[in-house]
Parts: sequence; structure tokens; C-alpha cells
Amino acid sequence: ADVVLLRSHLLNWYDKEKRELPWRTLAVTESDLNIRTYAVWVSEIMLQQTQVATVIDYYNKWMKRWPTVQDLAAATLEEVNQMWAGLGYYSRGKRLHEGSQKVVSELKGQMPRTVDSLLKQLPGVGRYTAAAIGSISLGQVTGAVDGNVIRVLCRLRAIGADSTSSTVTEALWNLANKLVDPERSGDFNQAMMELGARICTPKGPLCSQCPIQTHCHSYRKVHIKQEKNSQKL
Ligand code: ADE
Repeated sequence: ADVVLLRSHLLNWYDKEKRELPWRTLAVTESDLNIRTYAVWVSEIMLQQTQVATVIDYYNKWMKRWPTVQDLAAATLEEVNQMWAGLGYYSRGKRLHEGSQKVVSELKGQMPRTVDSLLKQLPGVGRYTAAAIGSISLGQVTGAVDGNVIRVLCRLRAIGADSTSSTVTEALWNLANKLVDPERSGDFNQAMMELGARICTPKGPLCSQCPIQTHCHSYRKVHIKQEKNSQKL
């Protein structure tokens, strides 16, 4: 029951507060699935090492120039690098380009349709990115654990251990898979990312504005400590 409440608290907040980002406004229709998956792939690769605010313009320009995976596959690497200028980490653009050519030549132009095949087929797509694309674009039911989500989950469960250890990483993925809303996996994952970026920030988190404050073990710990201290005074 607690997990059901957490989902609704988080998703209600997301529905009210979410930023309108271009890759979030794509229509969810079967005929658009290939374009949708391509678009979310492009956005996730750009977002890997670059802030949301910077990515928006690059994403819009990219999608205008190469609206489909076929268009990208027909471009040259020079054109791709030109378009990428200023984003940094150029291998990301190169892998998008390589991936698009692979989709066209080996997959008949159809973007992979599962988390596993995204992971296997697309260069530069790792565990997080495959989960993000699969949930956001395809509604695959999986958690998606990136840096922001690691921080949110560690606080939620008051995990103090080193979050880069493989044991903790596995535990966090298990937790994310348990928490994700099976009806709205993409929105749930984006809500977690957005919570980490805007509320559950590394320094000075805005707990008073947090939609899942009542579920948060770290908040509870700090709060109980404060109450005990004020009783002593
Ligand atoms: N960071 C990575 N993917 C994101 C997304 N879909 N929305 C917001 N921030 C993100």
C-alpha cells in the first residue's frame, strides 16, 4: 500500500510541476513509435553529460534536421559533428550516427522495441539509457537509475553505504524496479529524475516541497533527531 501511495504522490506532483521538455510532448501512438523511440534515444544521449537547459536547443535543431532514424543514417559524420559542436564528448554523436546506420542496415529501419534489444543493438546505450528509452518511449516496466535517482533512492531508504559499490547499485536497481508504476513507467522515471534535479538536490534539498517527504527515511531520521533535541531544551 505504501508503494501505491508513493507512486500517486510522486506522479501527482509530476503532473502539476513537470517541465515541458520537447521530448516529453511527443504523441503516444503506435504509428509514431519508431520516431518516438528515436527521439527519446537522441534526447537521452544528449542528456548523458549535458544539462537539460543546454540540451533543449540542440535537441530541437537535431530533430528538425534529422526527424527520423533514416535521415540521421543518411547524414555524414562531419555533419553530425558540426551539429554536436558545443555539446562536448563527441563520441556520443558518433555513436548515435553509427547506431542509426545499424538500425537502417540491420534492423530494417525499425528501432529496437525492448530494453534488452536497445541495450544489445545500440552503441553508447548502457543499462540506464536502455531503461530510460524503454520506459519513456515504449512503456516497458523498468526502473531507471541515473545519478539523480541514486541520490533520491539512497535518501528515501537512508542508505549511507557507498552508492558506487556493485552491491548497492544492484540494491538500488531492485528498489527502482519495485517502486516504478507499471501503468506509467516513463513518467515515474522522469519524475524521479526531476525530483533529484529540482527538489532532492545534492546540497540543501528542499524537503518541505518534496512530494514523497512522508515516505523518506532520511527525512524521518533528521526530523526525529530535531524533535528529540528540542524536547531536551
Ligand atoms: N535526464 C535524463 N533523462 C531525462 C529526462 N527524460 N528528463 C529529465 N532529465 C533527464
